[in-house]
Amino acid sequence: MIGVSILGCTGSIGSQTLEVIGKYPDRLRVVCLAAHKDFSKMAALIQRWRPELVAMVETSAAQRLRPLVTAPVLLGEEGIEAAATHPTAQIVVVAMPTSRVLKATLRALQAGKRVALATKEVMVTGGCLVKEQLTRSGSLIPIDSEHSALFQCLLGENSDGVERLILTASGGPFWSKPLKELEFATVEQALAHPTWKMGPKVTIDSATLMNKGLEILEAQGLFGIPADRIDVLIHPQSIVHSLVEFRDGSVKAQLSVPDMRLPIQYALLYPQRLPSLIRRLNLSEVGSLTFYEPDPYKFPSLALARHAATLGGTMPTVLNAANEVAVAQFLSGRIRFLEIVKIVEATMNRHQPEKDLTLEKIEHYDHWARRIANEEAGKRYS
Ligand SMILES: NC(=O)c1ccc[n+]([C@@H]2O[C@H](COP(=O)([O-])OP(=O)(O)OC[C@H]3O[C@@H](n4cnc5c(N)ncnc54)[C@H](OP(=O)(O)O)[C@@H]3O)[C@@H](O)[C@H]2O)c1
Repeated sequence: MIGVSILGCTGSIGSQTLEVIGKYPDRLRVVCLAAHKDFSKMAALIQRWRPELVAMVETSAAQRLRPLVTAPVLLGEEGIEAAATHPTAQIVVVAMPTSRVLKATLRALQAGKRVALATKEVMVTGGCLVKEQLTRSGSLIPIDSEHSALFQCLLGENSDGVERLILTASGGPFWSKPLKELEFATVEQALAHPTWKMGPKVTIDSATLMNKGLEILEAQGLFGIPADRIDVLIHPQSIVHSLVEFRDGSVKAQLSVPDMRLPIQYALLYPQRLPSLIRRLNLSEVGSLTFYEPDPYKFPSLALARHAATLGGTMPTVLNAANEVAVAQFLSGRIRFLEIVKIVEATMNRHQPEKDLTLEKIEHYDHWARRIANEEAGKRYS
């Protein structure tokens, strides 16, 4: 039996992870559950999954949960770290939509766990620390569907044979809309993703295409391929999850219906391939697969992410933290859609990147960027 801790169990990835565990009760069992503040959903999950340990980020949520359950409920960052390092967990699913889970991810690797990583923000902000830790202990399998695809395409290949990585993007709800329409895009419109049902942060990132910018940085960190050899193609059907082009001109891709339970199961059961919960892909039903270049004027987020990759050091941390703030501001109705990326750019413009990254330095600039991005957002309140 493999023990699994889930950081972000009440969310989209967390819920789908529990579905996969439910399919394989003879192989996988829940050890720890961690979330932010949704104590009533957590209470129901505790009753169903009987974890050994529970963690809530928010103190008031932990306090309201405690009288409802018998499992120990820890709180704050310490609680998340306890869930990430629990002795009976072999796998830690990291699925909280914030770079603030970087430290817990590093702790899990230090404790020798397999990290099944959905949180791209972790690799964007602290990719070099994660890679460094992986040379000493622990292992990592990506859950992000594009990176799971790249991981699978790269298995058995020499890295010097790789020409470039090609990340596919659904394009979100706006890729074919004129720029003018984006100016007054509402939260509801931006949350209406055409192919994936995901949490609000990543859905807005998909609409601005910052999601793909973050994924360029994530892929660079995971696979050691520089950002200028990582391309992006809009692929509205979300069937081809990403591709690797080799030096001899051969191209490998991984395909399936869009369903996150597949990359989640892959990360949990790797290297075994067993029947999954997903519908089979029928290409004759799909008919055609189409691909388009993204429009750089409509989606400046991609160029910003490439710029952050070129500058390196603390700049990706600043890009990511500013984006987290700007997305939250948009979701709460305080800024307009196109201002999200403008706030990220304005925050980056106020930063001189520093090299020689440490966790302390990353945390310092993460906090700094959140403060500056909030300041930049405040200037734009209507
Ligand atoms: N959903 C997808 O299909 C998908 C695909 C690829 C990658 N990802 C990545 O996976 C991560 C999770 O995405 P999701 O769609 O599952 O998100 P989600 O549905 O919004 O769920 C987020 C989970 O994290 C917790 N959480 C929210 N804000 C937090 C914070 N500030 N600090 C700590 N915990 C927090 C939530 O707890 P409460 O419920 O208690 O608030 C919930 O358990 C993201 O990094 C995303 O980019 C998601």
